[in-house]
Amino acid sequence: MRSRKFFLSIVVLVSLIAVFPTFAQDNVGSGLTIGFAQVGTESAWRTAFTAATIAEAEARGINLLYVDGQNNQDTQIAALRSFIQQGVDAIILAPVVETGWDQVLQEVQAAGIPLVIVDRNVTADPSLYFTRVASDFVHEGRLAAAWLAQATAGVCNIVELEGTVGSSAARDRQIGFNEVISLFPNMHILLSQSGDFLRDSGYAVMDGIIASEDMSQICAVWSHNDDMAIGAAQAMMDHGIDPGNDILIVSVDAIPDIFLAMMNGDTNATVELSPAMAGPAFDAIVAHLAGQEVPRNIAVSGGLFLPATAADEYARRTQQ
Ligand code: AHR
Repeated sequence: MRSRKFFLSIVVLVSLIAVFPTFAQDNVGSGLTIGFAQVGTESAWRTAFTAATIAEAEARGINLLYVDGQNNQDTQIAALRSFIQQGVDAIILAPVVETGWDQVLQEVQAAGIPLVIVDRNVTADPSLYFTRVASDFVHEGRLAAAWLAQATAGVCNIVELEGTVGSSAARDRQIGFNEVISLFPNMHILLSQSGDFLRDSGYAVMDGIIASEDMSQICAVWSHNDDMAIGAAQAMMDHGIDPGNDILIVSVDAIPDIFLAMMNGDTNATVELSPAMAGPAFDAIVAHLAGQEVPRNIAVSGGLFLPATAADEYARRTQQ
């Protein structure tokens, strides 16, 4: 097992790495009709991802058939079947959960339509899609834990706000985080509850925990996304607890609102999940349709962001 020193050096290294946005390659894919089955609108990150995908398609002249899955697998499965009916050139699926996709993906394959998985993963046979564009969720969890270990000198009782149950994002972030805190005998997850990646649920779950637990024993909240973290911070404030000071908060996504919260001293760290997945996905589809080899996995990367750069990050992300 790697040493503490190794994980803490990650914090320093990764916080120096910036994300390189993909630039719309005008007209690459022009004229294609592509079906996009999105998870829903559950978080600010998700809506930013959708907006970036629609803008990328427009810039390339791609006819994008966007379907909001409303955080529901059956809705997404129905969308895939309607894309088959419409005879699209390719499909992009952002799956809400991991399991239950084999049947419909076999139908897509039988129709001869190439499919790309973006963001969360599926357990379906990999031969049913030709590539996945995604971030390393395990790595995101490790980064969050490495920062917290450094910020608390490895002594901390933690409340975990989990994402959507059954999603690879929630499961893998939990695995990465637990892997790192297992190196620290005085770091413990005392409570873990799902807020389904929703800001309101982040509030409601934290409100319930504050009502039932001795919060003086809690040192930090580890939230699987920024929206739940912002909800939890508000619940703390409503109970007279000072988020970001009395209780540290670390989360994932790097949405603009988390930088506002950092500027107000209400949260402490976020691991970025890049919403720029459409460019690599469209490029992969064009290459695949041209008979070119496409890697099985296409990674998007993100950095660790702290209050020191929050004002600049907020300005950069809200003026793009
Ligand atoms: O799958 C990625 C996660 O989905 C994001 O971190 C979260 O904001 C969204 O709901």
